[in-house]
Amino acid sequence: MKALIPAAGMGTRFLPATKAQPKEMLLVVDRPVIQYIVEEGLASAADEVVIINSRDKKSIEDHFTPNPELVATLRARGKDKYADAVQQVGDYNVSYVYQDEPLGLGHAIYCAHEKTGNEPFYVLLGDVLVPDNKMLPRMQEISDAHGGASVIAVLPVPDDQVSRFGVIAGEALSEDVWKVDSLVEKPALEDAPSNLAVFGRYLLSPRVMELLADVQPGVGGEIQLTDALDAVLKEEEMYALVIDPEDGFDTGTVDSWLETNNILYQRKKNAQ
Ligand code: G1P
Repeated sequence: MKALIPAAGMGTRFLPATKAQPKEMLLVVDRPVIQYIVEEGLASAADEVVIINSRDKKSIEDHFTPNPELVATLRARGKDKYADAVQQVGDYNVSYVYQDEPLGLGHAIYCAHEKTGNEPFYVLLGDVLVPDNKMLPRMQEISDAHGGASVIAVLPVPDDQVSRFGVIAGEALSEDVWKVDSLVEKPALEDAPSNLAVFGRYLLSPRVMELLADVQPGVGGEIQLTDALDAVLKEEEMYALVIDPEDGFDTGTVDSWLETNNILYQRKKNAQ
C-alpha cells in the first residue's frame, strides 16, 4: 500500500522564500516540512511513500537520497547524532513520479496511478502536519470497520473559512465519525452543506483512482480530487473522521507556518 504526497506546487504564498527553494523544504523546528509528512506516511500501513514532484524541485529528492560519504565523515568526527539523522532520512522508502503540468490536485494524484495499482492508498497533503502520526491508523480502523470504504479527515471550521476547502454533507454516526453523502469543493458559504472541511488526509479506495482518469476540470479550472470523491459515492460508501484541531497543524501560509513552528518548538522544549 502506498502513501501519496503531492509536492509539485509552486509555493506561491511563500514567495520570494520559495523562488529557489521548494516550500516542502522549509524548516519546521528541526527538519524540512516534507520529512514530517514522509515519516507520517511510513508510520501508517503504507510500505512506500510516493512523492508527486515537479522536475525542478530536485532538492526534495536530494534530501531523501542516501549520502554514505556524509554519514562516514560525521561518524569519523564523533558526530553520531547527526550521522544517525542523515542515515535515517536516506533509508526511508520514498519514490517519485512527476506532474508536468499544474492541472490540479486530482491530476497530481492520478499521476501516481501506476504506483497504486488496484490497492487502496493514502493521500497526505503537505500543507498540514500531524506530528503524532495517529490520524492515518485511526482512519484505517474506520475503513476496516466498514468493509474497506474510503475515509477522509475533516475539521470543523468557522463560517468565514468554508469557501477555502472541500466540504462534506452527511450524518454523524458517533462523536467523531460521519457517513458522507456528498462533497463540494470550495463552496460559497450559503451553498456549504456543513462546516466540516476536508483536512488533507485521505484513505481512498482504488475506484477513486480509476474515476480520476475521467474527472473534468471543476472549481478554479482544476481537476479536483473532491469531484472524484463525490463521484465514487454513487458506487461506494465513504466515511469521515472528525479530527481535533489540536491534532493537525496548518503550514500553508507564512502566518500558519510561523505559528506551527512556535507551537511545535514549545512542545519539543517541554518534552526535553
Ligand atoms: C485542497 C483540497 C480541499 C481541501 C484542502 C485542505 O485544496 O482540494 O478539498 O479541503 O486541500 O486539505 P487546496 O488547499 O489545495 O486549494
